Amino acid sequence: MTYKAPRGTHDVFGNNALGMSLLEQKARGIFQKHGFEELRTPIFEDAALFMRSIGQTTDIVEKEMYIFEDRKGRKLALRPEGTASLVRAFIEHRMDVLTPAGKFFYVGEMFRYERPQAGRYRQFHQIGAEFFDNSSPAADAEIIVLAQDLLFAIGIDKINVHINSLGCQNCRPLFREALVKDFGFVENLCEDCVRRLEKNPLRLLDCKVDSYKFTAVPQMSDYLCDDCKDNFSLVQSLLKSAGCAYTVDGKLVRGLDYYTRIVFEIRSDAVGSQDALAAGGRYDNLVEELGGKHTPAVGFALGCERVLLAAEKTGFFNSLKKPEKIFVAIADQELFNEAFSFATKTVRKGLKSNKDISVFGPVNNKSLTNQLKFADKIKASKAIVFAKTEFENGKVLVKDMKEKTQIEISINEL
Ligand code: HAM
Repeated sequence: MTYKAPRGTHDVFGNNALGMSLLEQKARGIFQKHGFEELRTPIFEDAALFMRSIGQTTDIVEKEMYIFEDRKGRKLALRPEGTASLVRAFIEHRMDVLTPAGKFFYVGEMFRYERPQAGRYRQFHQIGAEFFDNSSPAADAEIIVLAQDLLFAIGIDKINVHINSLGCQNCRPLFREALVKDFGFVENLCEDCVRRLEKNPLRLLDCKVDSYKFTAVPQMSDYLCDDCKDNFSLVQSLLKSAGCAYTVDGKLVRGLDYYTRIVFEIRSDAVGSQDALAAGGRYDNLVEELGGKHTPAVGFALGCERVLLAAEKTGFFNSLKKPEKIFVAIADQELFNEAFSFATKTVRKGLKSNKDISVFGPVNNKSLTNQLKFADKIKASKAIVFAKTEFENGKVLVKDMKEKTQIEISINEL
């Protein structure tokens, strides 16, 4: 009996593992520059937290959550996204008092029971940020610029930033009404859209099946109240002043119900149909809806797997710097301890000096020929050979594995 990773999950190794940690490393640097602090939340939460925040009629809550009961019958869910968890933690730990800057980032696995395809998985990684207690359009613009900077940092510069305003509780109901009126006349709506028409009409705009039927749909921009209109144009003028190109996209509605006003998606042509590399928006009512004080907030998350798919297309993986590999070999078994001690010291020295090296060996009970064959296999650049005669004179042999040359070097010089 052999086992495979569950459908929709994947093992991360090789270039992808390197890329993933580099992306994380760069993100941490950028977050720090913008003053965001890390907040790690549990991988599972009370299922009701997600149902309440993401919205009962969203695809995520209706069909994509991994829900289970623990031994005491508590209904828990693997987190499908990070925002709800961060809001829960923000309220639970009185972060408004503890961390008044209100800027947090997170990195971690998310889980959604979706139909797997390239760029869409059931377990995937997000890097995200949430900016609490700031209603200024500058916070929206900073979040969009931040998401963009993260992509630029790993060489993805061909991106399309789509933005829209979903209005507020004053103007959105009028838009909803207009949508229901308009879509009520469209014939043969798909099963999902029939349901959406009744429960969540905004989501009609996001339908992949019926979208060709919706050519002249009402635009939210025509229904925005004066405050929302001003807010939308202020965010746009800030984006312009930060040199961020964007497209106003009246059909952008997003798949989570907590948004108010600005929403955005950053897409790339380099990947297939799952082209949203990062997405987010403002959610001014969520903290209050989850039991906190009224706290306007805005945030985003990027999908690491999709970002790495796009980065691969730009040749980013070829530019990854790999450490120099050094293999410690023994020509005489009795020198094993000396070789082992040398390997350990080399690693420690490398750690101290921050040198980019990886040390392999020594290995027991293998002929020198086989040890060197192995050094070739792992693409070591050098083999340091401990041999009796040289060692007695305080020396080792250093083999250049590529050039096939060797020199004697005093151990102290290494
Ligand atoms: P989201 O659009 O659901 O937003 O996800 C954000 C990003 O996560 C997507 O743009 C995509 O890159 C990635 N992603 C989503 N689902 C999958 C999947 N099944 N497989 C691979 N990647 C995926 C949110 O999650 C919001 N919490 C973002 C946010 C933060 N809004 C405000 N603050």
